[in-house]
Amino acid sequence: MGRFQRQKAAILIGILVLDLTQLVMGRFVVEKNSLRVTSPESIKGTHDSAIGNFGIPQYGGSMAGTVVYPKENQKGCKSFSGTSSFKPKSGAMPNFLLVDRGDCFFALKVWNAQNAGASAVLVADNIDEALITMDTPEAGSSSAEYIQNITIPSALIEKSFAEKLKKAISGGEMVYVNLDWREAVPHPDDRVEYELWTNSNDECGFKCDMLMNFVKDFKGAAQILEKGSYTQFTPHYITWYCPPAFTVSKQCKSQCINHGRYCAPDPEQDFSKGYEGKDVVLENLRQLCVFKVANETKKPWVWWDYVTDFRIRCPMKEKKYNKECADSVIKSLGLDLKKIEKCMGDPNADSDNPVLKEEQDAQVGKGSRGDVTILPTLVVNNRQYRGKLEKGAVLKALCSGFEETTEPAVCLSTDVETNECLDNNGGCWQDKAANITACKDTFRGRVCECPVINGVRFTGDGYSSCVASGPGRCKINNGGCWQDAKDGQSFSACLDQEGGKCECPLGFKGDGVKSCEDIDECKEKKACHCAECSCKNTWGSYDCSCSGDLLYIRDHDTCISKRATEVKSAWTAVWVILMGLAMAAGGAYLIYKYRLRSYMDSEIRAIMSQYMPLDSQNEVPNHASDEHA
Ligand SMILES: *[C@@H]1O[C@H](CO)[C@@H](O)[C@H](O)[C@H]1NC(C)=O
Ligand SMILES: *[C@@H]1O[C@H](CO)[C@@H](O)[C@H](O)[C@H]1NC(C)=O
Ligand SMILES: *[C@@H]1O[C@H](CO)[C@@H](O)[C@H](O)[C@H]1NC(C)=O
Repeated sequence: MGRFQRQKAAILIGILVLDLTQLVMGRFVVEKNSLRVTSPESIKGTHDSAIGNFGIPQYGGSMAGTVVYPKENQKGCKSFSGTSSFKPKSGAMPNFLLVDRGDCFFALKVWNAQNAGASAVLVADNIDEALITMDTPEAGSSSAEYIQNITIPSALIEKSFAEKLKKAISGGEMVYVNLDWREAVPHPDDRVEYELWTNSNDECGFKCDMLMNFVKDFKGAAQILEKGSYTQFTPHYITWYCPPAFTVSKQCKSQCINHGRYCAPDPEQDFSKGYEGKDVVLENLRQLCVFKVANETKKPWVWWDYVTDFRIRCPMKEKKYNKECADSVIKSLGLDLKKIEKCMGDPNADSDNPVLKEEQDAQVGKGSRGDVTILPTLVVNNRQYRGKLEKGAVLKALCSGFEETTEPAVCLSTDVETNECLDNNGGCWQDKAANITACKDTFRGRVCECPVINGVRFTGDGYSSCVASGPGRCKINNGGCWQDAKDGQSFSACLDQEGGKCECPLGFKGDGVKSCEDIDECKEKKACHCAECSCKNTWGSYDCSCSGDLLYIRDHDTCISKRATEVKSAWTAVWVILMGLAMAAGGAYLIYKYRLRSYMDSEIRAIMSQYMPLDSQNEVPNHASDEHA
């Protein structure tokens, strides 16, 4: 059934259409770096190559090496055995492994080459065509793990050019090439413009995780660049539309807003459970409006905080992917909620939403950029970035958009802090009275993390609450628990132990955090309710007294006569003496029995038996072994 539903979902999602009215093959621009053959003379010259969408291209740099074409495993789909290691011998140039296209994912070829020590990979196209972009396989495949670990750059080269290379190599020539990324990003002025095409859906597996990790990691650098006006960043969200014939269908209703105008695929690809595509479009719209409102107040970088905080605080997994949670993030960042709501408009209206309309228009390529169809996509100075979305690699690409020597400090050292905590405490939790904050500035931007103060660990989400926990916690702000003092007495609800909680002390009731109220033991008849008792409540306890000559015994909650206790104690004394005598007599008897047993006559035994039970005759065998020894 699951499979059936998934298939059904896939078909229905297929209804949604990217609004790329001008989409034709070739509108998708392949980002190129140049490949220059420096030797041998016969094939010397510059050729285009298409940068792979994984691995780490050396934006702003270049790399020289020797081309190697393996004798077997020429498609690189199997791992290369130990004997064919492509690690350069010391002092030799790096090896660029040439492999043929086909049979397996591009990424797998590159991964196998990297494991065999190659420094870069050239993939030879197997048909004569214009260059294409080598993309990562879709989510859900087992390849996710190794793709993350690909660090070497890769490039696709044309079939005809590859054949020239192979011919030279088989002819015994050393082929030297130079891969050059220096002109991959243009630098028209001293400000770099870049866009990230993203999505608020947090449950799409590998691609969503990669995107989010990138945003989290890159946030600090992005904010520094933006604050210094070195860059102008704009976030974008891909939006689909529902063809008019289907707008009233159940599928379009659940995946779209504004009567089928703006849609996103169902996050789980299953209409029967979880969140709907509609929820994703709405959150995308909210994030766009967060950017708009933040940009209007000249703080566009707050978008990065909103997006990371929303992901942390409002994940789909915890069923918090909703307006209520989003609003709390907006509030903690000090943004104007009303303005954001106004920007979002009415999702049920049968009319255009200007913000989303603009997004759909922007998807269509302009100038050198080409249409955006891969998600996520980063566009730098109107060129699509190709390669792994990773902080270092992206920063390299952005920084290569500046002319040499004009790049900002963050391009040279990434360990620069953002100082965001100075402003509104970065939207994190704080206890102003105790001067404790959860805001921490790091070179990844600010993080809201409950602190450790004097060895006492605070736990909580770091945004709305942090509570001291563990040993010593009562010393700080009484562990956030209730405490009070009256008439020289003080009580606290803090339990100073690992995993300790706030618990009202004995004699009090309440939540232990905000309040503990004295229990009126007299009224609640918890104690002091014997007939002779008279009760008086005190703070945290009670006094009970007994009428007349009686004495109150708290442990037993009862009144007893003072005389009775005297008599009782006299009797106790008598008993102690009697027991003592009896024991002494018993002891004497044992010695006597041992030594003089044979002389003991029945009369004495009869007398003794009145004080103590005697061994009966049938018990004697128990001692037999002793006696006969
Ligand atoms: C990728 O790298 C991580 C840590 O760097 C490692 O734990 C993981 O096993 C690697 N995955 C593969 C498939 O090699
Ligand atoms: C952000 O604000 C700047 C001016 O402050 C403006 O040029 C830019 O177009 C704005 N971006 C968006 C997406 O509104
Ligand atoms: C709060 O603590 C920080 C360091 O923990 C200190 O620099 C600052 O002066 C303190 N502020 C106040 C008002 O006590």
